[in-house]
Amino acid sequence: MSDIHQVNDLISIEVDGDIALICIDNPPVNATGQAVRQGLYDAVARLASEGGVKAIAIYGAGRTFVAGADIKEFGKPPQPPALPDVYNRIEASEIPVVAIMHGTALGGGFELGLAAHARVGIEGLRVGLPEVALGLLPGAGGTQRLPRLSGIPFALDMCLSGRHVPAQEALEAGAIDRLEAGEPRDVAIRAAQDAAAGTLKTRRTCDLTVTPDDDALERTAEKLRKTQALLFAPHKIVECIRTATKTPLSEGLQFEREAFMECMDTPQRAGLIHAFFGERAVSNIPEAKGEARPIDKVGIIGGGTMGSGIATSCLLAGLPVRLIEVAQEGLDRGVATITGNIDGAVKRGKLPADKRDATLAMLEPSLAMEDLADVDLVVEAVFEDMGVKTEIFGKLDTICKPGAIMASNTSYLDVNEIAAATSRPADVLGLHFFSPAHVMRLLEIVVADKTAPDVVATGFALAKRLKKVGVRAGVCDGFIGNRILSHYGKEAAYLVLDGATPQQVDAALEGFGFAMGPHKVGDLAGLDIGWATRKRKAGTRDPNERYSGAVADRICEEGWFGRKTGKGYYIYEGKDIRPNPDVARIIEEEREKAGITPREFTDQDIVDRYMTAMISEAARVVEDGIAKRPLDVDMVLLFGYGFPRFRGGPLHYADTIGAAELVRRIETYAKEDAHYWQVPDILRRMAEDGTTFADMDKGA
Ligand code: 3HC
Repeated sequence: MSDIHQVNDLISIEVDGDIALICIDNPPVNATGQAVRQGLYDAVARLASEGGVKAIAIYGAGRTFVAGADIKEFGKPPQPPALPDVYNRIEASEIPVVAIMHGTALGGGFELGLAAHARVGIEGLRVGLPEVALGLLPGAGGTQRLPRLSGIPFALDMCLSGRHVPAQEALEAGAIDRLEAGEPRDVAIRAAQDAAAGTLKTRRTCDLTVTPDDDALERTAEKLRKTQALLFAPHKIVECIRTATKTPLSEGLQFEREAFMECMDTPQRAGLIHAFFGERAVSNIPEAKGEARPIDKVGIIGGGTMGSGIATSCLLAGLPVRLIEVAQEGLDRGVATITGNIDGAVKRGKLPADKRDATLAMLEPSLAMEDLADVDLVVEAVFEDMGVKTEIFGKLDTICKPGAIMASNTSYLDVNEIAAATSRPADVLGLHFFSPAHVMRLLEIVVADKTAPDVVATGFALAKRLKKVGVRAGVCDGFIGNRILSHYGKEAAYLVLDGATPQQVDAALEGFGFAMGPHKVGDLAGLDIGWATRKRKAGTRDPNERYSGAVADRICEEGWFGRKTGKGYYIYEGKDIRPNPDVARIIEEEREKAGITPREFTDQDIVDRYMTAMISEAARVVEDGIAKRPLDVDMVLLFGYGFPRFRGGPLHYADTIGAAELVRRIETYAKEDAHYWQVPDILRRMAEDGTTFADMDKGA
């Protein structure tokens, strides 16, 4: 090949005889930021004006083809040239252009392929249009060109699921034309030669027509109205694809562009992009980046739901597990639960069926704690009792090899006290998993006073290995998540005591975006758990605190613990769920006892009070340093507590309300209950100086 001409820092051209290669080199994922867009546009224009070239192949340097538009540019003033204009220029090119895609061709990356005149995939390629996960739609021709190449059902599936489609499936669907092996540059040379010789067929996607499929469009639109009523982008995607069937490409692209800009302006887009970067930023702290200790074998103490879930998670990540229980019956139950979990993973396609037996073979059940002598990490997952835990850690201290890490899965107990039961507190930390532990992605990495830096780094490395979102938390009752939950959970109870029904509270919060309201969640988790906690804390409860557990206690006294007993706030009969009428009676009696005259709350009142309570405690968690940054709190609530992802997390949502308004609300509510409603200092300062939680994230 000839010399390389740099069009700019990120785009280069190589010409050899009658073929040319354009290389995109913008690590780490070749996102189409301004310089890439400009460079691509200029490269194609330059090759056209210079003449002599019969075919162009565009490929990406590094580990992947283009993974999409540069998400960091979203929300800022757009810088020309716009991506659709660049791709229209490529599609209009008189010289045929072939896209050579490897790694993950996503969003604007796959759309570059769709605008080219032929698409060659390299083995291992996955293509996707994941914009919907960012509150967007494919905005550089995806909704218009993909239906022309692959038909409407496939385009609907790709745009609405955002899934990464394997190359073979893309080939069969007509979304790519060839699948080859080799290095991107070598494949690019061959493809350009073939295109020049006419042995690789090239054509403009805009010249193809779409086969109409009104049924598929209507069915999908109807389903989305039911399942994704609160989201904006999915419905717009259907409209865009519908337009593709009815108009020439240029008009469809215009429609898509306008819909894309509408999505860009929604708070949902901002919330979802906060979630995208937040998920990555949680481990972007010095403590997570230090050297980790090697973990080749894990010991788990306790074969209950949590211990079995943690064991399953480790096994699925290829980590051998030694499971310890005190009695054979418990051990058998643990093994049975893990086996069921692994079978479930096979059913859900998370584990290939032929790996099932080998995965289970990595599980070694044992009744002897001494068998933990050779493991690198122990996770204790027994019930929440400080006496039991300290006894276990004292024993572990005598059994575990030097350098082994000892972790507790406690959800609120003092990890410093647990660590003090050993002679090596530097090796102790909290690893707080969420149930079901092999499904839920959150892992709170609880750092105690004496936890060694490499032990913290190992916690983060483990989270990554288990494909979890590891968030650093400090020691306090409930760490980040359960501390905040215990505060806003009280507000749900106060709302009911003061006049709302549990169903109204649930419906209002489901309308806000939670998959389930707090009373349904309570029924699912088991009302006896909260009951036990309230009893445990009865002796230390602040006398100024308004008691929130009166109704829930009465329900539990009846033996109604929620779903597992068929009755709780609701009655469960098969698929039928209806409010428990006896709960309405209990609520009335408790109101009478407390001298409360019930009042009306609108759904908005309920959301405002519940969210303000959540934000208040979340702000205090940041203020106390239990969470290092607001984004850490947001990711805990998103990945562990069902907070609606499109709202970004409680503190991202708080910024959309503004600190001044939040302070005003708290001060208003405080007139009724000055103990519960206190303005966090951090929020007052923010209201005074006009700053946001996002500013704090940026400064961290
Ligand atoms: N823009 C800007 N930065 C991006 C990016 C993008 N599209 N995609 C990834 N990055 C960054 C990540 O933030 C991360 O940065 P960091 O190292 O500073 O934390 C780095 O690239 C590496 O990313 P990952 O840690 O996620 O690496 P993985 O190898 O695990 O995953 C990936 C790679 C599958 C490409 C994944 O990053 C991904 O899914 N990216 C987003 C893809 C996407 O959503 N594309 C659509 C964008 S919207 C669009 O194209 C609009 C268009 O239609 C007009």
